[in-house]
Amino acid sequence: MIKIFDLTDVISIKDFQKKDIQYILKKAENLEKVAKSEEYSDELAGKILGMMFFEPSTRTRLSFETGMKRLGGSCVGFDGSVASSVSKGENLADTSKMFEAYSDALVIRHDLEGVAKFISDIVDVPVINAGDGAGQHPTQTLLDIYTIKRRFDKIKDLNIALVGDLKYGRTVHSLAYALGMFDVQMSFVAPDELKMPKETLHDLEKDNVKFYQTNNLKDVIDDVDVLYVTRIQKERFPDEEEYSKIKGAYLINHHLIKGKDLIVMHPLPRVGEISTDVDNTKYNKYFEQAFYGVPVRMAILKNIIKNKI
Ligand code: CP
Repeated sequence: MIKIFDLTDVISIKDFQKKDIQYILKKAENLEKVAKSEEYSDELAGKILGMMFFEPSTRTRLSFETGMKRLGGSCVGFDGSVASSVSKGENLADTSKMFEAYSDALVIRHDLEGVAKFISDIVDVPVINAGDGAGQHPTQTLLDIYTIKRRFDKIKDLNIALVGDLKYGRTVHSLAYALGMFDVQMSFVAPDELKMPKETLHDLEKDNVKFYQTNNLKDVIDDVDVLYVTRIQKERFPDEEEYSKIKGAYLINHHLIKGKDLIVMHPLPRVGEISTDVDNTKYNKYFEQAFYGVPVRMAILKNIIKNKI
């Protein structure tokens, strides 16, 4: 088995090679029973994970915490800077230094792109980017790819459409880079105002990754294996009026996909992009996808913390 992570931090999916992703997928599969509490593990007993969440989160925060606890470790931290001394004016560097003193690895979510990298440069414990503004969300990508692998038993020869807010959505930025390492057909479906950033497209082209762009879901819906739907990121719009014009650009409902051979994924939270009438159908993969955050993040934690010991 290839050894992962000469990487000490998980900041950008661009730092991963294909073999690193494959390694994490394999390790996560082995950890599914521990993730469900069907098997016991105390491999990270005595270890503490620092959770610095400056932005709201349900899935990322709770699946990291669950994963750490299922491995026998524990967590400290805050959810929203109001509950920390940041609210008294303490700067990010000092706050990070405190977390470095109290924990064995840090998980950070922040609304500014580049913050996880900034912190990784000033602390000596491993740092995991749990979403930095409209930048990246690498651990989400690993669980997204894991979900695809679990469903199709492969990550190649698939037709995958990323739909919605491709400009501000950090999950799709990371996912596009990762899928570009595998032999898949990618489509980017977004309103003209929310297309995939030019820098990402340029990087993909440089790596000879083929993709198709459209603003019309109908152009791809009959051919896709995976519809990866995203929320329009209201909080990142400089102007709320612009958001109002674009919200509701795409709605996936049962009528639209009935009879088609595809799965629907979403990093969640959803805010009206997927109708609840999809929930109890074979198309729904988004809740299972959210569960896979536990074994995938356990695999990351195990490797990144143990490498440091
Ligand atoms: N997918 C995701 O990042 O969800 P949360 O914002 O709830 O963590």
